[in-house]
Amino acid sequence: MTTVNSEKLSSARFAQATDAFVEVFTASVDFDKRMATQDIQGSIAHATMLAHCGILTDHERDEIIKGLHQIKLEIENKTFIWSIKQEDVHMNIEARLTDLIGVAGKKLHTGRSRNDQVATDIRLYLRSEIEQISLQIRRLKIAILDLAEQNFDTIMPGFTHLQVAQPITFGHHLMAWFEMLMRDQERLQDCKKRLNVMPLGSAALAGTSYPIDRFMTSELLGFSRPSANSLDSVSDRDFAIEFTSVASIMMMHLSRFSEELILWSSAQFDFIEMPDGFCTGSSIMPQKKNPDVPELVRGKSGRVTGHLISLLMLMKSQPLAYNKDNQEDKEPIFDTVDTLINCIRAYADMVPHIHAKKKNMYNSAKRGFATATDLADYLVRKGMAFRDAHEIVGLAVRLGIETERDLSEISLSELQNYSPLISDDVFNYLTLEGSIAARNHIGGTAPECVQLAINTARFKLSR
Ligand code: ARG
Repeated sequence: MTTVNSEKLSSARFAQATDAFVEVFTASVDFDKRMATQDIQGSIAHATMLAHCGILTDHERDEIIKGLHQIKLEIENKTFIWSIKQEDVHMNIEARLTDLIGVAGKKLHTGRSRNDQVATDIRLYLRSEIEQISLQIRRLKIAILDLAEQNFDTIMPGFTHLQVAQPITFGHHLMAWFEMLMRDQERLQDCKKRLNVMPLGSAALAGTSYPIDRFMTSELLGFSRPSANSLDSVSDRDFAIEFTSVASIMMMHLSRFSEELILWSSAQFDFIEMPDGFCTGSSIMPQKKNPDVPELVRGKSGRVTGHLISLLMLMKSQPLAYNKDNQEDKEPIFDTVDTLINCIRAYADMVPHIHAKKKNMYNSAKRGFATATDLADYLVRKGMAFRDAHEIVGLAVRLGIETERDLSEISLSELQNYSPLISDDVFNYLTLEGSIAARNHIGGTAPECVQLAINTARFKLSR
C-alpha cells in the first residue's frame, strides 16, 4: 500500500514518510526562523512582481500580501506555530499562508525555489545587520575620539616588543585604534556592495520559464541589480565568507585593543582605571578587579575566526549549484553577527569610562629611556653619522641604568664626555615633551598633530 505523506509541502513523490530522526536532523527551522522578516519581505516583492507580469491575478497578490502581513504579526506576537515537519522558515511560512488563504497561497512559489529564496533571505538579513553593526562601530568611534581628545597631550611610553621605545601621547595611541575601526567600517561597506545583488528568479538553478521581471523584484527589495548567473547566485556564499572575514578582522582588532587594556589595568603597568561596571571581583581574592569584558572579547575573537574557517570549509568542495550543505551557513553567520554586535557594543559602552592615570603613564615613559633616539637624532643633526650616534647613546643609556637616572637627568658635562658636539640645547630634546613635540608631521605623535587627526576624524564622521 502506498501512503502519501501529505503534511509536507514537497513530499508527494515519496512513498514513505521521512524517518523521524532524519526529519529532525535535516530541519533548520529552529535557527533559520530568524530570517522570517526577510522571507516575508522577499515573498511580498515576488508576489508583487508575479502579478505585475500577469502570472498571478491582482486579487491573488492582495490575498498573499494580506496573509503574509498576518503571519508577520503572528510571529511578532509569538502565536505563530513553528513546525519541524515543515523543515525550514520558508516552508513554515508558506504552509501557514496556504492555511490562511487557500489556493492563492500555493501559487506564491511559482517561478521560485527555496534555493533562490534562501540566498535572497540571507542577503537581506545580512544587509540589515550590517547597518546595526555600523551604528555600533560609529558609537565606538565617537567614544574613542572623545577619550583621545581628553588625552591629546597625555604622555605615555610607546612600545615595540612590549619594551619602552619612544614617548607618544595616549591620544595618538587611541587614534591608532580609531584608524583600525575606520578600515573595518570601510570593509563592511565594501562587503555590503557585493552582497547587495539579488538571486530571486534564479529559481532552483537554471532560471524559470515564467515571464518574470527580475529588475522589478530587485528594485522592490532595494538590491542594486539582479544576479548575472542563476547557477552562481543560488550557490554563492562568498558574501557570507566575506562578512565573517571582515568580522574576524574587526574582532582581531578588538582583541588587540583588549590585550592592551588588560595589561594597562594591571598593577604592573597601572596606566588606566577600568570602570567598575565592566569588571568583576574574585570569589576568593578580595583585592581582585578583573577586566572581564576585554578578556571575554579577546576570547570571542577566536570563535568568530572559527566561523570564517567553517564557512570556507563548507564551500570548498561543493559542485554547482545548490547543495544541502549550504544550510550549514546560517549558524556561523548568525553567531558572527551576535558576537560582533555584542562585543562592539560592550566596547562602545565601556570606553567612555576608561580613566587614564596620566602621572603613571608619564613616569613610566621617563623610566624607559624613551628619548634615546632623540639624543641620537640630535647628534646626527650636529654632524655625526647615525651609527656612531647610536653607539654613543648606548653608552649614555648604560650610565643612566647604572646610576638610576633618565637621560634628561644626566648632567651636561657627563654627556659631553661622550661627544663634544653636545651643548646645553640638548635638554630641549631629551625631555618627553621635547621628544613628542618634535614629531609634528602628519601621522606623528605631537599633540597638535593628534588634535588635527581628531578634528579630521570628527569631520569624516559628520558626513
Ligand atoms: N533550508 C534550506 C537552506 O538553508 C533552504 C533551501 C533548501 N533547498 C533545497 N533544495 N533543499 O539552505
